[in-house]
Amino acid sequence: MLLHQGTKIIKTERLVLRPFTVDDAQKMFDNWANDSRVTRFLTWQPHGTVDVTVNLLSLWCEEYKKSPAYYNWAIEYNGEPIGGISVVRFSEKSDWAELGYSLSYDYWNKGIMTESAKAVIDFLFTEVGFNRVGLSHAVKNPASGRVAQKCGMIFEGTKRQYYKTSDGQYLDLSDYGITKNEWLENKLNSF
Ligand SMILES: CC(C)(COP(=O)(O)OP(=O)(O)OC[C@H]1O[C@@H](n2cnc3c(N)ncnc32)[C@H](O)[C@@H]1OP(=O)(O)O)[C@@H](O)C(=O)NCCC(=O)NCCS
Repeated sequence: MLLHQGTKIIKTERLVLRPFTVDDAQKMFDNWANDSRVTRFLTWQPHGTVDVTVNLLSLWCEEYKKSPAYYNWAIEYNGEPIGGISVVRFSEKSDWAELGYSLSYDYWNKGIMTESAKAVIDFLFTEVGFNRVGLSHAVKNPASGRVAQKCGMIFEGTKRQYYKTSDGQYLDLSDYGITKNEWLENKLNSF
């Protein structure tokens, strides 16, 4: 049985993972939410105006209050929000969670999402009690698959033409996952 804790603050070597606030709107808009390089393979479009970001953050802040099963972290680096990582779907019955994430283009390829995802995966396994954590990414977006691999996730297959982009392309999606036992074993071996 899952023991939901909400979006608890998690600190890593370089980062603070914390709940978003409405005051993050301008930085979120400037840093990643209005950047088509970031949203290219995502389910949402660049925000266009900061009002869209403000409205979205207001909804997210309501969710924090409503549900301890809502997991959505701002990734803060040097005091500034530069991205987000969240549980996009989970199963209360089967104890699995799926992650989604996005990061400001200026910070790509510095290991930041791997550091964030590892911290979130550890929290979901050891504190909430999930048995499996996974993610799906567009095959055309290999950096995301690489994050999954660096977190110890196993490639589980590709769903062909599974996702239709807003401009009408059908994209193949690859699935990755890791079980709690695999995670704990990997942790033990890296000590
Ligand atoms: C995907 C994303 C979150 C990765 O974040 P990040 O902090 O740059 O990730 P990391 O630095 O931890 O790891 C990225 C890895 O991908 C690799 N990589 C980058 N571009 C690549 C490419 N075109 N082909 C293969 N590997 C690539 C990097 O070299 C790095 O691997 P390495 O450490 O072995 O060298 C970031 O690129 C992003 O926000 N993209 C837009 C949003 C998005 O696609 N989200 C995921 C949706 S499933």
